[in-house]
Amino acid sequence: MSKTPIVYVGMSADLVHPGHINVLRQAAELGEVTVGLLTDAAIASYKRLPHMTFEQRKAVVENLKGVGRVVPQETLDYVPNLERLRPDYVVHGDDWRTGVQQQTRQRVIDALAQWGGQLVEVPYTEGISSTQLTQSVKQIGTTPSVRLSRLRRLLENKPVVRIMEAHSGLTGLIIEHTTVKTDGRTHEFDGMWLGSLTDSTARGKPDIEAVDISSRLQTINELFEVTTKPLVFDGDTGGRPEHFTFTVRSLERLGVSAVIIEDKEGLKRNSLYGTDVVQSQAPVEDFCERIAIGKRAQITDDFMIIARIESLILEHGMDDAVRRAEAYIEAGADGIMIHSRRKSPDEVFEFCERFAKLPKRVPLVVVPTSYHQVTEAELAERGVNMVIYANHMLRAAYPQMVKVAETILVNGRALEADPYLASINEALAIIPENER
Ligand code: SPV
Ligand code: MG
Repeated sequence: MSKTPIVYVGMSADLVHPGHINVLRQAAELGEVTVGLLTDAAIASYKRLPHMTFEQRKAVVENLKGVGRVVPQETLDYVPNLERLRPDYVVHGDDWRTGVQQQTRQRVIDALAQWGGQLVEVPYTEGISSTQLTQSVKQIGTTPSVRLSRLRRLLENKPVVRIMEAHSGLTGLIIEHTTVKTDGRTHEFDGMWLGSLTDSTARGKPDIEAVDISSRLQTINELFEVTTKPLVFDGDTGGRPEHFTFTVRSLERLGVSAVIIEDKEGLKRNSLYGTDVVQSQAPVEDFCERIAIGKRAQITDDFMIIARIESLILEHGMDDAVRRAEAYIEAGADGIMIHSRRKSPDEVFEFCERFAKLPKRVPLVVVPTSYHQVTEAELAERGVNMVIYANHMLRAAYPQMVKVAETILVNGRALEADPYLASINEALAIIPENER
């Protein structure tokens, strides 16, 4: 009796459509189908994190007709699974012959050749694709709980999570939709940072906790109306400890993923002033209590309270920073942010080295504003889990707006400002719904 052939199909199966069903049907005609389901980390290595978790996608695929079993495929590369399973066939849509997946395809062919396996390619199903479906899902939007939990999923599945500052619906849209392709991978921001600096500057106010929490929640609502990505909220000092409970609950209810609170006390000034202005750090015990109050207030398991250490900003030394990290983690912090205003990343690197040796570790966040030469890869190598570009959208817009204002004043008309402006058509096209 001849053995039933083994047929391997690799897929993400996030938004299952007739194209997938077609591939599976043809695979099932060849033998017993094993689906290699790409893990969240494998998918996140080259494009957006899937909408559904691995477990959710697995539950769907296991119940699709013709699927014998589902195994995880932990890399975009099929070869490790193929060498283990030595299938007689691999079945895939023929759309990977061109474009970014060409190399993956060639490696499949070479691997199969080792044991005489065969690649079977199914003609691409016209009229439907995961990319189109993802666009539609983005338009429908998201729910607070899906958005909220996304940050933890990103932290679990990406070497480093990349967050960009947003302070308005427009800046949110830019972060939601901007993508670039390099080396066959799609890069985009994973989420948004609503910083106190830009949220107050956009309102013409100083960064001293003068913008009240209701106004800041309003900015969040504006961002959330037009985006689906997770948001990290700059909670400044957390305000009065008695009030922090309410802030945490409000943020969670809206679907914010994390709040970062800093260990300052008294009148808070922007950290990038460092010791040029009077600002003081809270005693360790007081700040631990603030963290504990937040942790007691939160309703979901996914919400994160991240403790921000200002020891390097205030020149209290590396030992103090590390001691505080340990204490804050002990108090329940879900993450640590180490801030620095040095022009070189050296002190942050030193902190990373010491942080890696702590008995208990949580995700590590940095804000490379002054040491902007450092790359995400260099930070990730040292154990950093999240990089925040804290003020770049606002700093991009400001000089251009001033330039236009001056140019109109000098010329007594608007014509000369044209080189600095988007055309009216371009401005209208920013919001696709204008065109309908
Ligand atoms: C912010 O963006 O508001 C921050 C980071 O808190 S910093 O401006 O560097 O203090
Ligand atoms: Mg701030």
